[in-house]
Amino acid sequence: MCGIIGVLAKDRPAAPLLMDGLRRLEYRGYDSAGVATVSAGFLDRRRAAGKLAALADVLGTAPLPGTSGIGHTRWATHGCPTEANAHPHRAGSVCVVHNGIIENYRTLREELTSRGAHFESDTDTEVIAILCADMLRRGLCEEDAAAGTIARLEGTYALCFLFETAPDLLICARRGSPLVIGLGDGETFVGSDAIALAPLTNRICYLEEGDWAVVSRTDMRVHDSHGNPVTRRVQVIALDHLIADKGQHRHFMAKEIHEQPTVLARALGAWTSSDRNRITSDAEHIDWSAVSRLSIVACGTAYLAGHVAKIWLEQIARLPVELEIASEFRYREPPLPRDGVTMVISQSGETADTLAALRYAKAQGQQTLGLVNVTTSTIAREADVVLPIHAGPEIGVASTKAFTAQLMCIALLAFMIARKRGVIGPDAETTAIDVLSTIPRILSEVLAQENDFAALAAQISDATSVLFLGRGMMYPLALEGALKLKEITYIHAEGYAAGEIKHGPIALVDEHTPIIALAPSGPLLEKSLSNLREVIARNGRVAIIGDAAACQVFGNEAWHCLAIPHVDPLVAPFAYAVAIQFLAYHTALCRGTDVDQPRNLAKSVTVE
Ligand code: AGP
Repeated sequence: MCGIIGVLAKDRPAAPLLMDGLRRLEYRGYDSAGVATVSAGFLDRRRAAGKLAALADVLGTAPLPGTSGIGHTRWATHGCPTEANAHPHRAGSVCVVHNGIIENYRTLREELTSRGAHFESDTDTEVIAILCADMLRRGLCEEDAAAGTIARLEGTYALCFLFETAPDLLICARRGSPLVIGLGDGETFVGSDAIALAPLTNRICYLEEGDWAVVSRTDMRVHDSHGNPVTRRVQVIALDHLIADKGQHRHFMAKEIHEQPTVLARALGAWTSSDRNRITSDAEHIDWSAVSRLSIVACGTAYLAGHVAKIWLEQIARLPVELEIASEFRYREPPLPRDGVTMVISQSGETADTLAALRYAKAQGQQTLGLVNVTTSTIAREADVVLPIHAGPEIGVASTKAFTAQLMCIALLAFMIARKRGVIGPDAETTAIDVLSTIPRILSEVLAQENDFAALAAQISDATSVLFLGRGMMYPLALEGALKLKEITYIHAEGYAAGEIKHGPIALVDEHTPIIALAPSGPLLEKSLSNLREVIARNGRVAIIGDAAACQVFGNEAWHCLAIPHVDPLVAPFAYAVAIQFLAYHTALCRGTDVDQPRNLAKSVTVE
């Protein structure tokens, strides 16, 4: 992962601009950070282990002058998150920042060491700086040295070079990791994404795979992977979609949980006709009656949205669905039917495994759909059909509003495909839209119960392990509940299908392990209740999150009952998603963990 930024400013210091950009990129990693600038022919850098605040402290006591610079926020892949491993890496008169993994770094390191090079870090990146410095020493100019270095690299990279000897120059390159160039007025910027550059410029050029570029204050020259000069389009990006703040909330996660009624109303509006009678989507142009199978591929929470998608698409549209985690799918290389469609789901649109899965599916001749939040992302640009979820920027590492927005679009997709396959008539489609239209109101009611979730959270916050149980549609929600809790509270948690617990996990049941049962009323409630009785009979501490009917059945039997509104089965995943989000959020508050930037994680996982 990692976020990188480069600045060639006109009349203003580079360091504050770099720091502001890094703040916007911290979602890509926050293990360490660093900046380098050139001033009066002198290249210097500041680095610090830990979050950006630590680097800000270093710069507070030892500022960096100069209008040209590069910066980096790191998610460690090679080497611990120490200052020595923090970027920018320097060798002689060149500094470099890098996002990705250099796969042949050992070979390069051995080669350079045998020629007398000395390495100061454990990273794969340092070879880039040392290789480039080596070429400069042999008499190559900056541009040729950078191009020669890039040509030797195998693996993935977005990188940016800064030279002591050329303060008006940045050289950047991308392969497998995204990179943009932003054009200002007599100023130029480089960044991992347009969000980093949002306050600086809205004129953005997305580099393509294998591109490298020579950037000055007034110009950029882009070359493709063969070194041929190419022209890449400069787009004007709507900045208001790229700038996010916490509003009244303590954390981005809290803000994003509370935004869900608005987000889901927006997604529904964008996916339906103005009279709310018909679902409209670019996926309509596919002949769904001729599709034999849909493959859904994603990671993490997006994968769990895919789990819900499998259930809905099979039940509502009678379309067979194969669901797989992207990191497995891409290497398993499954045969895909000629008349199949592959849908990847990704909030960021940059997840490396999901992107590789998309490329594999395309290479197999599949029609591809990208269900994404970031419509300027690599997945959005490479999928045949882009399906935007309209969640707006999601900053908290734990995905919340993007998950429910994915669910909203998936529900609509299922009914649209059902209509196209002749499984339902127009009335059923209109009825489904009506039911989905109730979601913003129902979520507002669940959001109003925040204190109830805070009370339950206080009771589980000292647990060392928590189990989540659910049946049918509540099974993926149980998995998501466990993932959310693990991510931001560091409590071990697992989700199970309630009917499966007797096949092994019931051995974990004791009076210390809270068991959160997601139990809405419906055809599976009786079955779930039997499973829960088996747990209660073994002294299990069962907390029911269900509607009043489910809670009433248990009376005093359960350790805790938290009733939320009774909802239509189509609405249940949304309401219970808010429930598990609140539970994780308030448990994290009790434990004092870092909600928005939990340890070891990053928002966008651009390495495999
Ligand atoms: C969710 O809370 C996680 N942070 C993580 O599992 C995430 O969903 C996963 O990394 C996939 O990200 P994407 O949607 O951006 O592809």
